[in-house]
Amino acid sequence: MPGAFITFEGGEGAGKSTQIERLRRRLEAQGHSVLVTREPGGSERAERIREFLLSGRAKALGTFAETILFSAARLDHLEKTIRPALAAGRIVLSDRFSDSTRAYQGAAGALEPDLLDAVERVVLAGTEPVLTLILDLPESIGMSRAVDRRGDARADRFEGEGAAFHAALRQAFLDVAKAAPQRCAVIDGSRDPDTVEKEIWDVVRTRLPDLAAPREHVAHG
Ligand code: TYD
Repeated sequence: MPGAFITFEGGEGAGKSTQIERLRRRLEAQGHSVLVTREPGGSERAERIREFLLSGRAKALGTFAETILFSAARLDHLEKTIRPALAAGRIVLSDRFSDSTRAYQGAAGALEPDLLDAVERVVLAGTEPVLTLILDLPESIGMSRAVDRRGDARADRFEGEGAAFHAALRQAFLDVAKAAPQRCAVIDGSRDPDTVEKEIWDVVRTRLPDLAAPREHVAHG
């Protein structure tokens, strides 16, 4: 039985980690084997690239270089972690994936859409999410949540960007959803976590009924 690849996207402080954990529990309760992973990262090499990117040292190299680094990390993540899990019939939940490059480096970083399309095609090589949950919320709420969560630690590379960047980012994710409505669902992330969890489960049940049904009831092969 083939696995399913689901991604979570959104700006800073949108509540992705909380909701990924809740969806994982629900899917496991249906008897699925679930792998939770994240980007940048999710494999040994990709985690090393992550450190470099989030330290802010890649910023001086420009948006194109950052795009290539995120993409190199993604290529390894796909090869070492995502594809093997899908081949084993697992459900993969990724905290961010290629739509983040489109939003952060594309719209907000002003990189050409054609160039992003080309890089994405090469890197994904056909491994696309079957569902992308975009947690949307006003950037002011997201940023204040991110500040609370961080405490005394320093803002990372992208948390340190200004309000205009985060507003462009929000719009970019909404544009991604508009361009790929079959794959994407926009979820209002400003509500309380229980309400958001329930809406996400409704989307999963509607769009991927096989996953939401208990596994022993799923027809095999
Ligand atoms: P992380 O601490 O995982 O942030 P979050 O909790 O918001 O997911 O840091 C990942 C950062 O990298 C985040 O600011 C988004 C950014 N990013 C990109 O700019 N491009 C990408 O392709 C990816 C995957 C992430």
